Amino acid sequence: MFTIEDFDIKLNTKFVGRNFIYAQNVSSTNSYLSEQNKNLENGSVALSEFQTDGKGRLKRSWYSNEGENLTFSILLNDHIEKLNLNHLNLATSLAVSSSIENLYQLKTDLKWPNDVLINNKKVSGILLESSTKGSDIEKVIIGIGINVNQTKFDGDFNIQPTSIKHEMRKSISREKLLSEVLNTFEELLFELKNDSKKLLNRWRDKCGTIGERISIEHNGESKHG
Ligand code: BTN
Repeated sequence: MFTIEDFDIKLNTKFVGRNFIYAQNVSSTNSYLSEQNKNLENGSVALSEFQTDGKGRLKRSWYSNEGENLTFSILLNDHIEKLNLNHLNLATSLAVSSSIENLYQLKTDLKWPNDVLINNKKVSGILLESSTKGSDIEKVIIGIGINVNQTKFDGDFNIQPTSIKHEMRKSISREKLLSEVLNTFEELLFELKNDSKKLLNRWRDKCGTIGERISIEHNGESKHG
């Protein structure tokens, strides 16, 4: 059970999450926000206890046990015409990783472009979707999945999953974590608009793959470098 009052009392933002939509079950919180016909407020957040068709990057799916984790999306639709979406991706992963580190003193690493890892296992993924009008960005939906209290993961994964509970060996308050992520996200969004260099340097410091040898698979081809 997610207690909105416990989340709300810790929310310290000007606009992110001030309009909060809580659902038991949607296909995907990203799709839910993008399908809303009425103009939702800038910074609206939709959280669902379960997604029947949760989406991941590269057309993968994102499965999350009901009521155990955080699956939510943030809508930005104001003053974002010239926002750099790559930077926004990095700012989002930084917000998630800093929140986990600050609340639980767990060391996290970032893996390009936006996976958050603990001990080389994936604790969070981000899916950013946008729509444009001409060359201007009109709307961005930032979908965030964080494995919080799930401890068993079935299936095939390109990176082994973990959760905060698994790493901490204790149950975690989803309300406290969500408010921390949104508070930090809004701070970083302001920072991104004012001084993106500072934010990029912070991201580089946390990026686990810089300087390492890596392999990537692209169009069925493996490349190493
Ligand atoms: C990835 O690592 O592949 C990105 C996963 C993103 C999952 C989140 S859960 C909330 C939001 N709704 C979705 O359908 N996907 C994102």
